[in-house]
Amino acid sequence: MSWFETFRDRVVVVTGASSGIGRETALAFGAAGARVALMARRRHELEALAAEMRTDVAVVPTDVTDRRAVRAAFDTVAGHFGRLDVVVNNAGILRPSPVLDIEPADLDAMLRVNLFGALFVMQEAVRRMLAQDDGVVVNVASLGGRRGVSPIGAYCATKFALVGLTEALREELRGSNVHVALVEPGVVETPMVHDVTQDQEFLEFWPQSLNMPPSWVVWAIFAAARFRLAELSVPPGAGTVEKLASLAPAASDALVHWVKAASRWFAPARHDPTSQ
Ligand SMILES: NC(=O)c1ccc[n+]([C@@H]2O[C@H](COP(=O)([O-])OP(=O)(O)OC[C@H]3O[C@@H](n4cnc5c(N)ncnc54)[C@H](OP(=O)(O)O)[C@@H]3O)[C@@H](O)[C@H]2O)c1
Repeated sequence: MSWFETFRDRVVVVTGASSGIGRETALAFGAAGARVALMARRRHELEALAAEMRTDVAVVPTDVTDRRAVRAAFDTVAGHFGRLDVVVNNAGILRPSPVLDIEPADLDAMLRVNLFGALFVMQEAVRRMLAQDDGVVVNVASLGGRRGVSPIGAYCATKFALVGLTEALREELRGSNVHVALVEPGVVETPMVHDVTQDQEFLEFWPQSLNMPPSWVVWAIFAAARFRLAELSVPPGAGTVEKLASLAPAASDALVHWVKAASRWFAPARHDPTSQ
């Protein structure tokens, strides 16, 4: 039996299930025989996903920024499945901008989803898990939550905040049978990243071919939930490199600058459709 199989009949909630990492995670838990609740705002996408899954699925359209809606969603899950084993706290948004140009509305929107939404989901999930004395929450943060990078400084700030909340909660849960894990991905090929690279010079130093497939993050989420790991970066070890780099911040800044410059130098020329 593969360790994926240990999730058979477990009740798993995935937020942000309508797209990208969340969608792939929901499919993988479904394939492992779990009973899965799909949360995100877009009902149509969730229903299409549910139709693909050959498992017991609940479609629970939810805006995670609305605390009452999150509570109602978890009530729905409890009514449908009767318990809660794993919550993949994954919903998130990205609005890139250099720090000097950050619009308060963009930072506010990211904080609402990436921090407040994640907090509401954690609070709702952990209270219920403590009542049954079992359960795992996997918070999907980012490598950008350990080292700020331009032009996603505001996004990084929201993920730093999520990392802080998670570490504090881990301390509070010590001695219980409820666990909260951090998964910190690097750049993953999903609509979030794809959309941004379509309309901006964003990540021009980062060839899209280097984007990781969502399946790498799914693997990390499974491992974090199965083995109750505190923290797992994707690719493995990248988070440790960031922590070591933080011991020498000025040298790290110089290295990031050099790597970006070198990447731009070697990046293939952009095709300009107007220059014929
Ligand atoms: N892709 C990357 O390179 C990368 C790297 C590190 C970390 N991450 C993190 O991984 C997570 C998933 O990102 P992704 O790349 O898979 O992005 P994505 O494809 O854009 O998916 C984001 C998901 O979040 C949901 N969402 C957004 N706002 C919501 C809200 N208010 N309430 C409920 N759901 C909401 C979206 O669903 P609806 O629009 O239907 O609500 C969607 O399902 C995010 O937390 C992101 O920060 C991604």
